[in-house]
Amino acid sequence: QDKPQPSGEAPKQHDLARATSPAGEHLTDNLGHAISDDQNSLKGGVRGPSLLEDFLLREKISHFDHERIPERVVHARGAGAHGVFKVYDDSLSEVTAARVLTDPSRETPVFVRFSTVAGSRGSADTARDVRGFAVKFYTQEGNWDLVGNNIPPFFIQDAIKFPDLIHSVKPEPHREIPQAASAHDTFYDFVSLTPETLHMLMWVMSDRAIPRSFANMEGFGVHTFRLVNAEGRSHFVKFHWKPLSGIHSLVWDEALELAGRDPDVHRRALWDDIERGDFPEWELGVQVFTEEQAAEFDFDVLDATKLVPEALVPVRRVGKMTLNRNPDNYFAETEQVAFMPTNLVPGLDFSDDPLLQGRLFSYLDTQLSRLGSPNWPELPINRPLARVSNHQRDGHMRYTINPGRVAYEPNSLGGGRPAEVSPQRGGFVSYPEPLSGVKIRQRAESFADHYGQAKLFWNSMSPVEKMHIVRAQQFELGKVETRDIRLKMIEHLRGINPVLGDQVAAGLGEMKLNGPLPTDAELMKLLEGAVSETTAAGGV
Ligand code: HEM
Repeated sequence: QDKPQPSGEAPKQHDLARATSPAGEHLTDNLGHAISDDQNSLKGGVRGPSLLEDFLLREKISHFDHERIPERVVHARGAGAHGVFKVYDDSLSEVTAARVLTDPSRETPVFVRFSTVAGSRGSADTARDVRGFAVKFYTQEGNWDLVGNNIPPFFIQDAIKFPDLIHSVKPEPHREIPQAASAHDTFYDFVSLTPETLHMLMWVMSDRAIPRSFANMEGFGVHTFRLVNAEGRSHFVKFHWKPLSGIHSLVWDEALELAGRDPDVHRRALWDDIERGDFPEWELGVQVFTEEQAAEFDFDVLDATKLVPEALVPVRRVGKMTLNRNPDNYFAETEQVAFMPTNLVPGLDFSDDPLLQGRLFSYLDTQLSRLGSPNWPELPINRPLARVSNHQRDGHMRYTINPGRVAYEPNSLGGGRPAEVSPQRGGFVSYPEPLSGVKIRQRAESFADHYGQAKLFWNSMSPVEKMHIVRAQQFELGKVETRDIRLKMIEHLRGINPVLGDQVAAGLGEMKLNGPLPTDAELMKLLEGAVSETTAAGGV
């Protein structure tokens, strides 16, 4: 039976770079010389020493010696797939000039990479962790990367804390033992001293952090971005991906068992679904709101530890993404793909979220060390479908040949010059946001509440979901050896909900109950009434 044919055109550049060793054709070395024997090295006599002259042996071994590149500093473990994205109609054209979001006749090719955050490249798929959900849209106006996660808030408010957060969760530097299987002291040390992490911690302790498959995960752009329309007017926006096969999670025991029995379960399911023609699909959702509306919320939309509750701004589903083609080569595509939040198209723009602003520096910087050259945008998976034309030249492993004498501007000798840009003409122009203020290293007062949305999340959980959170936190904090850190965490959890804090404390032996520890069923009963005082923000 024929495999289902993906709809939509694959990026053409990828085909140009394709090379195989088909049966029936002879092998060559890397410079095209036919190989007569690549199984025996050249020796002085059949039992004699190998000869330095053996260029085939040296090329084959030397290439192998250099096969690895550094794994990503975070999100090292990932799986990718090609697909297409299409908007349903042009209804967003009132708020954005981005053609990818307003032209329903367009089918935009995409490449998506799902990942875990903390584990190394060979770690298990089912770890309790955040999942990356990074989408590269190859639009006709250039690449747009929506580099999101499967959890809507983030741990920290300011990019300058990111290295601290990641150092606290990665293996301890002296012994490199992953925290999933050993002491969790450093992560909870950081969390207990950084209460802005609590909202996301609640999500990470919930079933959301052990998805059943990638196809059963939501995705979120996390930050507030801008939509800018053809007249240059701006609205704020939060991006969502809603899985059409529903949101489903594993329970902890399944996750543990799968980590041993089939640590590749998520990447395998993604691959198999696509091979079978059972293409995973998501709808793109947007929450669009004005700056005036944002000013009325009881949280700051520039604070990435907060979400915009759907009760305040409903999610509009505006288009559909279908993943319909597996990569041909994991390294060339899934490993070499380089996402950058800076990749935007006209009609979109950044907000002043200080976490986003730091990311705008980090991703280009990290590609330079991971992929090793400023010419990484020439790699087939990263090349835009849009025309590339500028005066950048040379550098390590430059692939493009730029003829001609002009590599500068202004010029009058026949070189390219910038287009006049405006939203109407299609070029990128930054939204002219008025700025004022003094230079200062300080957090805004509007970023100060760290408990409100953690409570909101807790209140939105059913008893069984609450029970899972209690059990997860008992398990996690049970691996914290330093008592003082455990006690600080219990106090934070009590601040979110007293029953949550007490039950975790009891499970850790830090509080005596009148009787034995509750069973799961008893705990659920107890948690039914365990509601925190609500905040003005309404339901999640
Ligand atoms: C990957 C930095 C926050 C989502 C990465 C990488 C770095 C990084 C260096 C590795 C990229 C590579 O080697 O290709 C940062 C910094 C952050 C931050 C400095 C905060 C200041 C976030 C947030 C999100 C996020 C808030 C979600 C909205 C991702 C994803 C990847 C990634 C999905 C994996 C991309 C892929 O699949 O290749 N990040 N990150 N990061 N980050 Fe962040």
